[in-house]
Amino acid sequence: MQEILSYIDKNKDRYESELKEFLSIPSISTAPENVADVRRCAAWVRDELKRIGMKQAQIFETAGHPVVYAEHMEAGGNAQTVLFYGHYDVQPVDPLHLWDAPPFEPTVRGENIYARGSADDKGQVFLNLKALEAHLKLNGTLPVNVKVMIEGEEEIGSPNLETFLEEHREFLKCDTVLVSDTPMYGYDTPSLCYGLRGLCYIELEVTGPNRDLHSGSYGGVVVNPINALAHMISKLKDEQGNILIDGFYDKILPEDKRERAELSKLPFDETSYKKDLNVNALVGEAGYSNVERLSMRPTLDVNGIWGGFMGDGAKTVLPSVAHAKISMRLVPDQTPQEIAKLFTKFIEKITPPGVRVKITELHGGPPAVTPIDSAGVRAASRALKQVFGKEPLLTREGGSIPIVEQFKRILHAPTVLMGFTLPDQNAHSPNEKLNLPHFHKGIKTSAIFFAEMAKE
Ligand code: BES
Ligand code: ZN
Repeated sequence: MQEILSYIDKNKDRYESELKEFLSIPSISTAPENVADVRRCAAWVRDELKRIGMKQAQIFETAGHPVVYAEHMEAGGNAQTVLFYGHYDVQPVDPLHLWDAPPFEPTVRGENIYARGSADDKGQVFLNLKALEAHLKLNGTLPVNVKVMIEGEEEIGSPNLETFLEEHREFLKCDTVLVSDTPMYGYDTPSLCYGLRGLCYIELEVTGPNRDLHSGSYGGVVVNPINALAHMISKLKDEQGNILIDGFYDKILPEDKRERAELSKLPFDETSYKKDLNVNALVGEAGYSNVERLSMRPTLDVNGIWGGFMGDGAKTVLPSVAHAKISMRLVPDQTPQEIAKLFTKFIEKITPPGVRVKITELHGGPPAVTPIDSAGVRAASRALKQVFGKEPLLTREGGSIPIVEQFKRILHAPTVLMGFTLPDQNAHSPNEKLNLPHFHKGIKTSAIFFAEMAKE
């Protein structure tokens, strides 16, 4: 192993320049204007898989963006098979003016590399590929059988991946799934994540009069759709953070006392958390800690709201239409389908007279909790301890990776969520960054992980 670790040290600069190439492709999966870039990025990943020595590297078409696959199956029939999953697509970059450097011109400043996708998830995909490369270059083979599946639609809810898993369940068969798409608990606090929230994402369109009106001539009798929308939104949640949609909490599994006791040991410094965000208070459901509110409890947030006059200056208009995007983070056993139904029913109940509402379900995904007593978690714990010098903490995260639940349901394989980015990585926001010392430690940890899997 020592030889592999010093090879990784020696290749640091090369890794960084290759990563820059990957990060410079604007693979924004939600944007129609980036379809060709997403495809170019898939081709880059396929070529990279070939370069590092993986076999069968190829692109699979789906009804949406392609999936890239490769494998190396020479460890023998008795050895473990690890499926490494990640995503090469990224989130949109707006608001662009808040970036200190262009999002697809990767820039190193201090300890970090800045670019869209640096943390979520290209940097993390790439570090695992470099770990495989190190084994392949030095030993000509891998300690276990490895399959790699990198998709291009994670950031839009992986709408075609479930079908892909179902259609290819035989050749995707594996013992463990490895995912690096979650943050570490802190700079010096290695962690393994065992829970992700699900997501139900909805767009609301509220229509009042058939055209924009003079707010002086019509205001007072015609219902303003923006006012109506604001009223409706205010009825979805109370000031403590309790969600008021009928039946919303019904399917949530009872809490496990031992798990809550474990979560209560995670350090959470409320003062520095508030300071970092420049907010003077945190609020959330009574009876739950911040760590619990951020991971094992559901949420409802308005992600965007628009309508009426939004230009500079003033225009006295009573608009015809108002819009909002609203997302709910879900926990087991809530499902996006059921929650969307409850949401729709509740909105119908609270829609005031004078407006009509159209509800569109955007993407979503189910929540997932993964086992903490699996071979993958044991191997990952040992690898993290060797590199970071500490036993990893077990955490649940608030974000979502839709496919994780399907790995269990369709492939019957447990997932280990071994992430290396930091909580302040600015994922989905301007100036997304990846901490380079963690990136290099990540490569080493992943290389050790594959070696440790061979002992399981
Ligand atoms: N890397 C994130 C998932 C994540 C974020 C896990 C934070 C743990 C903490 C992933 O790329 C992501 O952003 N997923 C989306 C999924 C959604 C579009 C269905 C998310 O959580 O918003
Ligand atoms: Zn993301």
